Amino acid sequence: METMGALRRTHYCGGLRARDAGTQMTVAGSIAKCRDKGGVIFADLRDTTGILQLIFDDSTDRAVFEKASGLKSEYVVIAAGTLREREAKTDKLPTGDVELFVTELRVLSGAETTPFEVRDGINVNDQLRLQYRYLDLRRPSMHEPIVVRARIAQAIREYYDAEHFIEIETPMLIKSTPEGARDYLVPSRVQPGHFYALPQSPQLYKQLLMLSGFDRYYQIVRCFRDEDLRANRQPEFTQVDMEMSFCDENDVMTVNEGLVKHVFQKVLGVDVATPFARMPYSEAMARYGSDKPDTRFGLELQDVTDTVRGCGFSVFSGAIEAGGSVRLINAKGLAGTLTRKEIDKLVDVAKTYGAKGLAYTRITADGTTSSFEKFLTDEEKAALHAAANAEAGDVLLVVADAKNDVVFAALGALRLSVGEKCGLIDKNKYNFLWVTDFPFFEYSDEEGRWMAKHHPFTMPRAEDLGRVESDPGSVRALAYDMVLNGVEIGGGSMRINDPALQDRMLRALGFTEQRARDSFGFLMDAYRYGAPPHGGMAFGFDRLVMELLHIESIRDVIAFPKVQNAGEPMSGCPETVDEKQLRELSIAVRLPE
Ligand code: AMO
Ligand code: AMP
Repeated sequence: METMGALRRTHYCGGLRARDAGTQMTVAGSIAKCRDKGGVIFADLRDTTGILQLIFDDSTDRAVFEKASGLKSEYVVIAAGTLREREAKTDKLPTGDVELFVTELRVLSGAETTPFEVRDGINVNDQLRLQYRYLDLRRPSMHEPIVVRARIAQAIREYYDAEHFIEIETPMLIKSTPEGARDYLVPSRVQPGHFYALPQSPQLYKQLLMLSGFDRYYQIVRCFRDEDLRANRQPEFTQVDMEMSFCDENDVMTVNEGLVKHVFQKVLGVDVATPFARMPYSEAMARYGSDKPDTRFGLELQDVTDTVRGCGFSVFSGAIEAGGSVRLINAKGLAGTLTRKEIDKLVDVAKTYGAKGLAYTRITADGTTSSFEKFLTDEEKAALHAAANAEAGDVLLVVADAKNDVVFAALGALRLSVGEKCGLIDKNKYNFLWVTDFPFFEYSDEEGRWMAKHHPFTMPRAEDLGRVESDPGSVRALAYDMVLNGVEIGGGSMRINDPALQDRMLRALGFTEQRARDSFGFLMDAYRYGAPPHGGMAFGFDRLVMELLHIESIRDVIAFPKVQNAGEPMSGCPETVDEKQLRELSIAVRLPE
């Protein structure tokens, strides 16, 4: 092994092109691939920007050539020489027109054979890749998103800074408060038996910063939620968090549309049209069965409750009598793709989302097959077909349930499934949408009470205040989510800045005065000393990066992600700790039986 000596990098590999030919330069990185073609050695050098071919041939200094012949994959080198145009150009690499004729080479580190090949297009199991995450991150397709993520963060800072937002850090060790997801807890050594929580978001602190007169705040900040991992969730994830004073919800939305526009322009060169479309929650549910509709394709839901009320099919009439509804999707012209076999798969999708079944009618030139029309009279059948605008080539997918939420969830999922299966989604599109007017309350069967859908500090709509106690389900919040291609990439709300109203909303959420004080006393006190109107939102930064780069897995935009069991395979956390560490914290571990 050698030192760098006086050699210092002058150029990165990835950007070198034919126009740079003739330049003397020094590059540094790892050997991606080495081929000895007898008398000529080609070595691909990889650095953080890309790959460049190094060449050694019979005109190379013999000592340098000797050294090159010992190169192996992942050896770390620094090399000086002259860039020249390649004889055999290739468009497999962005630098495929050039190569470096090396005159000085220093091998800075050897490398053992890696557990998997460090290149794109390999087929290696995830577990191994995650265990050797640092190797996986060397692969260009894994490396690039992390680099772009940093550029996105930079563009965000640039934008908010220009809009007079200041970046303020908030504590990571905070008080555990009820509502929201499960907290990660941190024991206090100094105060035995007492615990901090890691923040699920900086929500309370950013509101207090508005009360401290900072006017506009933002932070790119880690948040922690001890929930079960799902597709685009991580137990620790990053928010782009912001809050502003003297504004209404339109101001918050406008500022953040501006942010998205700036980021897309700066990072992708894509012009995003603003303002974004807006849709009330109730409309999103009715048309798409989702509070985060993917508006890149149609297949909207239709309510046929009135059409089938009292019909001969007891599943339909029963659901309606029980206060529910019957809705359908007309998969127009898709009977070719949606064969019986495919429809059977859709039944499973519907059931996963809580539906008791999926009724269907498939209309082809050869005739109609249906799982339920045998229970309908000819008139009922005709009325349903007319309502659904059904014709040859169509497939009707119908869900009935006593709970509207189940109907929406099942049809919403079916819609996405059919859209995907039938190739209706244009993957190159970026469809932005604000979903507004969320319900303030959401009934939790588990808790047996009304819970805040966003959080308890959200401002209810003034015109709905009269129904807070009498009809909580109908109270709307000044809350909004930003949706991109069917993914909730951010959400926020206007906040309550009147202590009396805050008190009332906490009561409606089932808090006693004592419990409200114990949990949020410091916040409620703060509002007694004067508070500007304020509101804000937070983007899921990881999700924003995923959507912007069309990346499917949230793991691929995080350098060291957690996996399904909330562990991190490389370091092997979480891990047990010494008895001594536990004693210092006055903690005894009692494992479940
Ligand atoms: P909310 O809980 O909606 O709002 O979170 C904001 C955004 O963060 C992203 N997100 C997640 N991303 C990855 N993994 C997770 N486990 C995860 N949970 C949430 C989502 C979501 O839209 N304090 C409020 C914001 C506010 O009112 O200003 C908040 O945290 O993209
Ligand atoms: P059955 O009477 O069990 O033969 O059901 C007739 C059809 O109705 C089957 O295709 C079932 O999957 C479907 N079905 C059952 N429950 C529901 C429901 N809640 N919504 C829609 N279709 C249903």
